[in-house]
Amino acid sequence: MPRTTTASSRRTRATRRSGRTAATSDRHDLYERSVQSPDSEVEFIDRLWRRVRGRTATSLREDFGGTMYLSATWVRRRATNTAIAVDLDPEVQAWGTARHLDSMPPAVRRRIKVLCEDVRTVECPKVDCIAAFNFSYSLFKRREELVAYFRHVRQGLKRNGLFLLDAYGGSDSYLEQSEDRRLRGFTYVWDTERYNPITGEVLNHIHFRFPDGTSIERAFTYDWRLWSLSELQDCLADAGFRSVEVYWEGSTASGGGNGRFRATRQGEACRGWIAYLHACP
Ligand SMILES: C[S@@+](CC[C@H](N)C(=O)[O-])C[C@H]1O[C@@H](n2cnc3c(N)ncnc32)[C@H](O)[C@@H]1O
Repeated sequence: MPRTTTASSRRTRATRRSGRTAATSDRHDLYERSVQSPDSEVEFIDRLWRRVRGRTATSLREDFGGTMYLSATWVRRRATNTAIAVDLDPEVQAWGTARHLDSMPPAVRRRIKVLCEDVRTVECPKVDCIAAFNFSYSLFKRREELVAYFRHVRQGLKRNGLFLLDAYGGSDSYLEQSEDRRLRGFTYVWDTERYNPITGEVLNHIHFRFPDGTSIERAFTYDWRLWSLSELQDCLADAGFRSVEVYWEGSTASGGGNGRFRATRQGEACRGWIAYLHACP
C-alpha cells in the first residue's frame, strides 16, 4: 500500500508532538503564552524609572491585572518590591492566584495584594507606579470615561510616581481581517471583526487553533475603542498629568519590531505597532 500523508495524518503527528488540543488547553494559559511577557515589562519599567527618576520603583499597582502575571513577576524581582493587582473578574483572579501565587514562598506572597475592584473607583495605598497594559483601558469608549479613569490613576500615585500604559495601532488595525501567529503547539489568531471609522469602535477576538484541527474560537472578545496615541496624550493631559512621553519600538533589518523601546516624538507610519507611554502626575 503506498504511503500517503494526508492533512489529517499530518495533523495527528503534529498533535502528538505538541500534545495540545482544544480539549486539553486552558485559554488563560494560552493567552499568557501568546501576548504576555512580564519579564521584559519589568525590565522596561526598571529602565524607564532609572532614566526618568534616577532610581527603581518599589510599589506597583497593576490595573486590569486579572492573571496578576506582571505583579507576580514584579515581587519576585526584588525583595523590596510590592504589588497590588486590581481586576473585577473573580474567575480570572482565582486562575491567576492558583497559577502565580499559590506556589510562592510566603515571604514573597505577602508582598502581593489582590483586589477584586473596579479600577475607576479602587481605593488603596498610593504607589510609585501604576501599569495598565494589554490595552485594557480601551474598553472605556467615551472620552469622559477615559479621562475619569486617568484622573483616578493620577490620584492613586505618589508625588513622584509614574503611570505606564501601552497602545497599539498602524494601518492594519483599521482593517477587518485576522492575523495568525504560530507558537509552540498552537496558533494564536488576532481577529478584528469590526472597525467603525466614525466612532473608533473596534471588535476584536482572540482564537486559538491546534494542529489536530480543533480550536477555541472567541477565547477572548474585546469590544473596544481604538484610541490613537495623540488622543491618549490629550486625555492624559486633561486628567492633569504634567507630562507624557511615548516609547516607540526600534526595528530589525527585516522591518519587524526589535523589542527595544525608546522615548521619541517621531513614530513611523507602519502597518502595525505597539508603543508604551509614561505620564508624570
Ligand atoms: C485584556 S484583559 C487584561 C489581561 C491582563 N493584563 C491579565 O492580567 O490577564 C482585561 C481585564 O480587565 C478586567 N476589567 C475590565 N473592566 C475592568 C474594570 N472596570 N476594573 C477592573 N478590571 C476590569 C477584565 O476582568 C479582564 O481581566
